[in-house]
Amino acid sequence: MDGMERWKGKVVLVTGASVGIGKATAETLARAGMKTVLCARNVERLLDLQAELESEGATVLPVPTDLQKEEEIRALFDEIRKAWGGVDVLINNAGLGYVGTLAEQPPEEWRDILDVNVLALSLCVQEALKDMEGKAEGQIINVSSIAGHRVPPGTSNPYYAISKHAVKAFTDALRMELVGKGSPIRAGMISPGMVETEFHERATKGTEDSKAFYSRFRVLDASDVASAICYMLAVPSHVAIHDIVMRSVAQPH
Ligand SMILES: NC(=O)c1ccc[n+]([C@@H]2O[C@H](COP(=O)([O-])OP(=O)(O)OC[C@H]3O[C@@H](n4cnc5c(N)ncnc54)[C@H](OP(=O)(O)O)[C@@H]3O)[C@@H](O)[C@H]2O)c1
Repeated sequence: MDGMERWKGKVVLVTGASVGIGKATAETLARAGMKTVLCARNVERLLDLQAELESEGATVLPVPTDLQKEEEIRALFDEIRKAWGGVDVLINNAGLGYVGTLAEQPPEEWRDILDVNVLALSLCVQEALKDMEGKAEGQIINVSSIAGHRVPPGTSNPYYAISKHAVKAFTDALRMELVGKGSPIRAGMISPGMVETEFHERATKGTEDSKAFYSRFRVLDASDVASAICYMLAVPSHVAIHDIVMRSVAQPH
């Protein structure tokens, strides 16, 4: 995509890059010539991805990080600054949900969801803004969900929808704050429907057959979301795509 040319050599941080949407996005952006920071907890997967991408000539930096730990988030950004001078683009992708009812779900699971989906996302934005301020261009893309726009009818994962509604409010408020300051930094989000990843397996702690779950109809691939993220980056710098809501053509609601 032509508009990606101007991002060549710029630094992007992708959280949750070990698997799923984050991995596909990191692959796409690294192959487009961005210096790509790979963040997640699973070191082995990050090193495998590093080896794969470096063998293709891409420039990547794996930084194993537990986003539930504020000090590890601060250290992640310090390491990026030391290596590459800071980030130009932040893809706030890491996220999770746990199946459970509001009446009975253990609050520890709520904390885990909020820690990663909302708090870590917010802290990463704060750190990224420090790097982006004063630059001609910068971009923050928060990975939300259709569940951030409406609670899916009959959902088994309501707290996830609650957290993604918070991501929507955060992104709206951030955009207004940046516009209010006359900043060129673009803040947007992407809201996919069902995508085949490890999400469902993790959400059910392996108690449900995820293959069967994702084969009820043709769902999105992680690469579909990665392509849309690329599009958000590639549009001219005066164009701010605030949200992309996307679902499989077969997803009913
Ligand atoms: N799949 C869907 O249907 C769907 C739909 C709409 C939106 N989304 C959103 O898309 C994003 C990516 O989800 P996915 O479907 O690709 O899920 P996934 O396959 O389960 O991947 C989740 C990623 O988040 C990382 N992560 C989780 N907790 C972390 C922590 N404490 N510290 C660092 N990294 C952490 C995981 O890495 P490690 O385990 O290696 O740490 C992994 O890379 C999420 O925000 C999700 O809400 C997914």
